[in-house]
Amino acid sequence: MKKYVALALGLVMSLSLVACGPSPEPSQGPADPSQQNTDAPGEKGKIGICIYKFDDAFMTTYRNTLEGILKEKGYEVVVVDGNNDQVKQNEQINTFVTQGVEALIINPVMTSAADQIISTVKDAGIPTVLINREPTADQMSVYDKLVYVGCDAAQSGTFQGELILETENQGDINGDGKISYIMIQGDPENIDAKLRTEYSVKALTDAGKEVEELDLQRGDWDRNKGQEIAQNDLAKFGNQIEVVFCNNDDMAMGALQAIQAAGRTVNKDIYLVGVDALDAALNEVANGNMTGTVLNDAKSQAGKAVECMEGLLNGTTYAPGEQSIYVDYVKVTPENVADFQG
Ligand code: GAL
Repeated sequence: MKKYVALALGLVMSLSLVACGPSPEPSQGPADPSQQNTDAPGEKGKIGICIYKFDDAFMTTYRNTLEGILKEKGYEVVVVDGNNDQVKQNEQINTFVTQGVEALIINPVMTSAADQIISTVKDAGIPTVLINREPTADQMSVYDKLVYVGCDAAQSGTFQGELILETENQGDINGDGKISYIMIQGDPENIDAKLRTEYSVKALTDAGKEVEELDLQRGDWDRNKGQEIAQNDLAKFGNQIEVVFCNNDDMAMGALQAIQAAGRTVNKDIYLVGVDALDAALNEVANGNMTGTVLNDAKSQAGKAVECMEGLLNGTTYAPGEQSIYVDYVKVTPENVADFQG
């Protein structure tokens, strides 16, 4: 854990030099005593945070971290649940605008709605950080007090493919010369889902492997859907399935339940990979019940989002084409999993 904290802080500090303009201090988690806030609670003004839905495992960790950092710094923070409903989220943004918040941090329900979101915050002149769901550079270019903080989703896909290539038989368990997989996808409207789906397989084909897609189904980032899809596919394709790619860990946790119920054993007769490094997934990687996962670094992203928000509040503006700030993903295997466990 210590190693990981040092690594995460190092990453945040090094990124802060290049990315978010004149930020006087590196982002720190609320637990760091050297960064104890001296402002009274709420003294620095009100920040509105819109989350696409609270009922999402990864975004729960993310929003709690974000809220903690902001409160520690002396902001009044209001976090609202969009319930996966863009109309509702638009109303929430309008309410924050009417209330005159200092800044907004928005995790859009649908990136296709980004134009409308951006035009609302631009008209109101509110500095805004978008998180987790990346709009296009074109969409963002119309407002210079707007920045996106997230990750390069292609990288997480590539890492998933590499996790499979690093196994003993490089994913070809039955030795028939091809890697047969099922893909359990997140919400396909989402760029993370699209790019993870594409790049996980691309890593295999780039390494010269033949691949066979037995099935691709949308599981919308949801554990229950992951379980159902894997259960149906295991019943239909049985031992043909060598690899289960899940666009996130929550769906992988569901898939693992189905894998175990079908009497299959991960890392012996089937491989399973996810993304996020949720605590539950880290435990399964450590126990050998997941082949690996990819850290979607909520702490660094939340720290970076706050740093960028403060930069905007201090007058930083962004030029078109320079409005996406990325935090690196990290591959998690049984060898390094202990570094990430709390
Ligand atoms: C992804 C994450 C998923 C889900 C999604 C929501 O980055 O891996 O678990 O939280 O964001 O947009």
